[in-house]
Amino acid sequence: MSNPVTLNVADHSLELPVKDGSIGPSVVDIGKLYAQSGMFTYDPGFTSTASCESKITYIDGDEGVLLYRGFPIDQLAEHGDFLETCYLLLYGELPTASQRTDFNYRVTRHTMVHEQMMRFFQGFRRDAHPMSVMVASVGALSAFYHDSTDIADENQRMIASMRMIAKFPTLAAMAYKYSIGQPFVYPQNDLDYTSNFLRMCFAVPCEEYKVNPVLSRALDRIFILHADHEQNASTSTVRLAGSSGANPFACIAAGVACLWGPAHGGANEAALKMLQEIGTVDRIPEFIARAKDKNDPFRLMGFGHRVYKNYDPRAKIMQKTAHEVLNELGIKDDPLLDIAVELERIALSDPYFIEKKLYPNVDFYSGITLKAMGFPTSMFTALFALARTVGWIAQWKEMIEDPSQKIGRPRQLYTGSPKRDYVPSHMR
Ligand code: ACO
Repeated sequence: MSNPVTLNVADHSLELPVKDGSIGPSVVDIGKLYAQSGMFTYDPGFTSTASCESKITYIDGDEGVLLYRGFPIDQLAEHGDFLETCYLLLYGELPTASQRTDFNYRVTRHTMVHEQMMRFFQGFRRDAHPMSVMVASVGALSAFYHDSTDIADENQRMIASMRMIAKFPTLAAMAYKYSIGQPFVYPQNDLDYTSNFLRMCFAVPCEEYKVNPVLSRALDRIFILHADHEQNASTSTVRLAGSSGANPFACIAAGVACLWGPAHGGANEAALKMLQEIGTVDRIPEFIARAKDKNDPFRLMGFGHRVYKNYDPRAKIMQKTAHEVLNELGIKDDPLLDIAVELERIALSDPYFIEKKLYPNVDFYSGITLKAMGFPTSMFTALFALARTVGWIAQWKEMIEDPSQKIGRPRQLYTGSPKRDYVPSHMR
């Protein structure tokens, strides 16, 4: 137990308790600060603020460490699979053989979506971005599954969780199929989670579709890498939405909306677009110069991270996966991969990037990999959302099941006008 911190405020000093985690930085508990001093703390962007206590995911950004329930991400990506990772995130332990069979069975039995969802989809324009369809369709699940929206009922919370993990791939595949004018493909329950998703995306009714096990394994690994990342923007959004007692489908829809932004999950799409814009290796210096120019808003997409000030451990696995997929597909010379490798080499030796600790993040190589698999760029963030759904649910469940949980309600530093009187319009 660390010693309390003393804070001098005006003419008196306050003792603020310090809480220690199992690993990682301790926190100063400022819960009573306002009552005792009349002051709030100020930390826009939460750069020094822990918003909750959690047992799910641990990141050491300086060392480039990512643990799910204590297990290093590289071990899970190497030896585990996505559904096992889902179980781990939700329940805290790796499943035994029978728990695993039971969990897979339960998820598989929820893969279909209500048939009326088809009509809901048909209301969208064909050129709608898949993420706009996902925000709407995940939110709409609460209109179709009323029997799992009571958050006070543990069984309903569990069923809602299963439904979202199981139905998200079906909805994401439907969003893709709709955008290209192909018929929806129903889930096939004798396939594993990721193979089923690939089939729902790429099969057509007129011919047999055989899942490529190398691609399926690679995508499964991408899902593992994206499954959770502690209190990032979208997860915090889910927690904040859930803190009001909103139903889980609505909370996850809020998470999907937040993930869409280019500073967050939208970065994989932005990274690939940037590589395409660079076009050839000889244009890299021009883009590096732009990234360093204070007067140019351009940033190297797929570089930098709020927490990792070292190599993102997921980026290393992603780089290996990109090579595996390109090899399997016989893509010997992918110009985008050449640009990515060279860009990474130059950036990692450039003083600007070294000083600011800007390393490639997970999104830098994922775009190349997903593109090679046949996904259009507009689907990249939807795939990220698919994988992150389990992290959002695990974090939401942890919050709901915490007896000390209360509605999240940040305060502010008000810099607007002091009180003034209303002036009728003819006198303004
Ligand atoms: N290219 C060039 N310069 C950069 C980049 C970049 N990609 N990222 C940060 N910097 C610079 C900033 O200009 C800033 O410089 P300054 O100190 O001279 O003003 C400094 O590095 C710190 O940047 P901040 O924006 O303050 O760092 P923050 O932690 O707020 O941002 C973020 C992190 C949003 C990820 C940022 O690095 C970025 O925009 N990267 C590109 C987008 C991206 O790849 N996002 C994916 C994140 S991973 C994920 O969501 C899965």
